[in-house]
Amino acid sequence: MKHLIDPTDLSVSEIAEIIALAEDIIANRAKYSEVCRGKKLATLFYEPSTRTRLSFTSAMMELGGNVIGFADAKSSSVSKGETVQDTVRVINCFADIIAMRHKVEGAPLAATEVSRTPIINAGDGSHSHPTQTMTDLLTIKRELGTLNNLTIGLVGDLKYGRTVHSLIKAMTRYENTKFVLISPPELALPDYIKRDVCDRYGVEYREASDIESVIGNVDILYMTRVQQERFTDLEEYERVKDCFVLDAAKMRGAKERMAVLHPLPRVNEIAIDVDNDPRAAYFRQVENGKFVRMALILKLLEWQDDVTRTFDHGGVDMGCKCPNPLCISNLEPVRPRFERSEDIVRCVYCEWEAK
Ligand code: CP
Repeated sequence: MKHLIDPTDLSVSEIAEIIALAEDIIANRAKYSEVCRGKKLATLFYEPSTRTRLSFTSAMMELGGNVIGFADAKSSSVSKGETVQDTVRVINCFADIIAMRHKVEGAPLAATEVSRTPIINAGDGSHSHPTQTMTDLLTIKRELGTLNNLTIGLVGDLKYGRTVHSLIKAMTRYENTKFVLISPPELALPDYIKRDVCDRYGVEYREASDIESVIGNVDILYMTRVQQERFTDLEEYERVKDCFVLDAAKMRGAKERMAVLHPLPRVNEIAIDVDNDPRAAYFRQVENGKFVRMALILKLLEWQDDVTRTFDHGGVDMGCKCPNPLCISNLEPVRPRFERSEDIVRCVYCEWEAK
């Protein structure tokens, strides 16, 4: 069984296969209009979404398949206390593939422990959002023609931004990637990503305190929203929410060939006077999300019986407890899974360091 929980579940060559298939779908839409006839996708969304849920729905419909699911956990038996794993066992009776979004980190990985069908992580808390990353990679490839030798400016909420975490993990595997990290100190990139991802793979990164001084050097400017829903202290949110705003004046300092990406929704971190700039790629990015999800559905259904495709997040019960209150291992009856790398013990579900 092949699932997609983290961008690194896909090898670079599998990512290339998916991108190539998405590009073929874009060029030959009619060829794919019946390929999922008789198949069902279940979209289990425990957290709000516009793009991810509707692009999955649209993707499966364009492949000729059907979609079931819920957009709000309150309308399902989750509201009566059903666990993620029991819900997945039930949905396995109804659907061939599952896309799950959950505010609890590690919930989609816990789902893979019991599922008879492929599970796609459609975003788990602040942790990971691999289908957004696939969307971003297809967009970068289509906008700039390559995934190599790129300097990527990441702006805004780098602490809670799951799209940023997933994109960094994916891009470290391409040649000569460099990152510029632009965030208020309160929303800086977590140390585990700097150390275990960037440092481990020898990827250069530097921190900057404003957009203006770096915009001329980046090939991609990846803007993100400061996510009010992740803050426990609303005063802190108010203090940092408007720190970095991209506008047409700042775009005058950018390279002629570059692209502005944003996973969306935006609040006010990109002024609307940027929208008509040809380098503003964020609405094209949304459409790419549908095509890449079509390709992902097809590939995961194809790979589910292929024993040469591996999926293993590892980890064993070490008798410790994950310190993350939003980790599935603290909220539902799943077996704790920890992994040791050098001196650090890390929870496999959410990647927090165990104390
Ligand atoms: N980019 C993204 O995940 O958007 P939604 O929250 O609307 O799905």
